Amino acid sequence: MPTPRHRLPVLGDLLSVDPAKPVQKEMRMAAELGPIFERKIVGQRLVVVSGVDLVTEVNDESTWAKSLGQPIRKLRAIAEDGLFTAFNSEPNWAKAHNILAPGFSQAALRGYHGSMLRALDGLVSAWDAAAVTGDPVDVSRDMNRLTLDVIGLAGFGYDFASFTKSTGAEPAERPGTEDPFVTAMSRALAYINRTSNDLPFVRKLFGRKAAAQHKADIALMHSVVDDVIAERGGHPGGHDDLLDLMLGTVDPASGESLDPVNIRNQVLTFLVAGNETTAGTLGFALYYLAKHPNIAAAARAEIDAVAPGDGPLSFEQVGKLRYLRRVVDETLRLWPAAPGYFRKVRADTVLGGRYPMPRGSWVFVLLPQLHRDPVWGNDTESFDPDRFLPDQVRKRPRDAYRPFGTGPRSCIGRQFALHEAVLTLAELLRRYEFTADPAYTLDIQEAVTLKPRGFTLLVRSR
Ligand code: HEM
Repeated sequence: MPTPRHRLPVLGDLLSVDPAKPVQKEMRMAAELGPIFERKIVGQRLVVVSGVDLVTEVNDESTWAKSLGQPIRKLRAIAEDGLFTAFNSEPNWAKAHNILAPGFSQAALRGYHGSMLRALDGLVSAWDAAAVTGDPVDVSRDMNRLTLDVIGLAGFGYDFASFTKSTGAEPAERPGTEDPFVTAMSRALAYINRTSNDLPFVRKLFGRKAAAQHKADIALMHSVVDDVIAERGGHPGGHDDLLDLMLGTVDPASGESLDPVNIRNQVLTFLVAGNETTAGTLGFALYYLAKHPNIAAAARAEIDAVAPGDGPLSFEQVGKLRYLRRVVDETLRLWPAAPGYFRKVRADTVLGGRYPMPRGSWVFVLLPQLHRDPVWGNDTESFDPDRFLPDQVRKRPRDAYRPFGTGPRSCIGRQFALHEAVLTLAELLRRYEFTADPAYTLDIQEAVTLKPRGFTLLVRSR
């Protein structure tokens, strides 16, 4: 199997790790080493897979399953056996999945539409003000605020009111995210990202302060979640949201309900999973729309045709914005906000007919590189929503595009995220013209998930 060129004794390929931008480094390595390569980091074997044929193989549930790779294991310090971080064998996964699945049905989504619009009011007020003053808006900060408000309101009836509560004062170490929950969450994720490949003794010697901060960040997140649950006061009913489902329903398979600790883990899971990924996706989409005025104009024309007038978009109208949906799909192709997932083999196998994989060994599927596989053509860097026209989609293997993962452990929030993203972009595009700083080049921040860093827009009311 291809490996990096300069392997050291004991440390192996440790020097090939970029702790700040591990995914972007792996993409460069994949471009050089091919659709599968192996790294050894202090004895630990890491196989990175990004070719569509190999990914099709590892997505086969009869031989492979989800694995909790190192960064996801570290997330267990935050969300323990919540849906995202549960081991396949933990009984709480199936129980929570069964209880929560109806919370992501079409009917449930329709119910969240109003909460999404309510959260959008905060963003629109902030951008209206920026349109008057001419101040640039910090896109990643505002998308994080929005998506936190959306999941808080839609999932738990809790108003983070990020836009009205914000003070404008931002911590120097993480500019752009001043809500205490978002600050703690972003810092905790960055810590996990940074320390995933650390040697334990390095962390012990140099990382005490950061480890203490990490502990404090997790404690803050837990206390916010306790507030969210306490606000419901243990009296579920009448809210039609995720919290009501967890407090008030039983798993039809086991006849059991979720225990309070697990409910806390699930709320945390949704606050993290539902916030970072969608915020990053919206940030990248706004970047591409600002850089491609012709695509923004086509999206605006569609919105004006589907929803003439000023009233908020209805649930059904969002479903009719097929071009804008393709903009989101193409955004998730180039920069899938969750940049990969881990797969573990259930029985000894030979991957790609060449590489022996003993039972229990695992691989990392590197999504941004899979999404640049030759099946996407020879101009994979260009932003082209038409790649997602139905006849184009039909020509490609299904596993060429997996921004929401695969199998039973794929993203439960997929439709929620897509509806939120299309609705948000539509409400912004119909209200504002926006321009990016022409000198800005895309700088991608990695903290388990991906998002643009330092990206601002000047907005003008239409
Ligand atoms: C799982 C991506 C939005 C909740 C996943 C996985 C991916 C993913 C790749 C699979 C991870 C793995 O196999 O290890 C995304 C992207 C999103 C997004 C790109 C936005 C564009 C959301 C939202 C929610 C959510 C909005 C909740 C409201 C979850 C949960 C899981 C998950 C709970 C774990 C499912 C399970 O194992 O049962 N997501 N996600 N995600 N996602 Fe998302």
